[in-house]
Amino acid sequence: MARPITIAPSILSADFGRLAEEIQSIDAAGADWIHCDVMDGHFVPNITFGPPVIKAVRGASKKIFDVHLMIAPADPYLAAFADAGADIITVHAEAGPHLDRSLQAIRALGKKAGVSINPGTPESVIEYVLDRLDLILLMTVNPGFGGQAFIPAVVDKIRRVKGLVGDRPIDIEVDGGVTPETAGVVAKAGANVLVAGSAVFKGGTQQSYGTNISAIRKAAEVAR
Ligand code: DX5
Ligand code: ZN
Repeated sequence: MARPITIAPSILSADFGRLAEEIQSIDAAGADWIHCDVMDGHFVPNITFGPPVIKAVRGASKKIFDVHLMIAPADPYLAAFADAGADIITVHAEAGPHLDRSLQAIRALGKKAGVSINPGTPESVIEYVLDRLDLILLMTVNPGFGGQAFIPAVVDKIRRVKGLVGDRPIDIEVDGGVTPETAGVVAKAGANVLVAGSAVFKGGTQQSYGTNISAIRKAAEVAR
């Protein structure tokens, strides 16, 4: 049974001056999850926000907060993100030496555990932690910024990860350069959760957000 197509707008592309309002808008516009891009200026060349901001906007939506930690180290902060209201906590395989321990720690906090791998990282790094995972996040851009170009070379990796996962209850999420033009190819390759920032937030109104989310969802669903 195919896992449902899930659209997770990235708030990195939202108006940070009105973050709670923007989250309410994408919630009302049809977002399934809220993708929160945490960046530390060390693992990636950009800094965004941490647990206090997630806590501050948690009440803006009841939908899943899908927290993408682009930070190193991640382990010292897992509990703080869990307390702030994260539902899924995703760490990068490249962020530290003990991925299995990080994933166990996330589940011990009662949260769903995800791993993310960068475009240049082979899927073999997750081979021995599959049973610790609820989500695999495949980067289709080099992390740090919204609005970058989709990296087509990753599509083959999506297919291979889909094969690795088999019928395990694991979501395959793709993040970076997802638009109505690229949504079909990633869905056909096996992704079922699509993160999109600039492609959702363009237009700046709840109505445009709804149109953008629907276009991405439709492109993914017809391609499967
Ligand atoms: C990049 C982030 C992505 C990004 C996606 O480091 O992890 O979630 O916000 O932005 P777009 O959809 O504009 O490529
Ligand atoms: Zn992200």
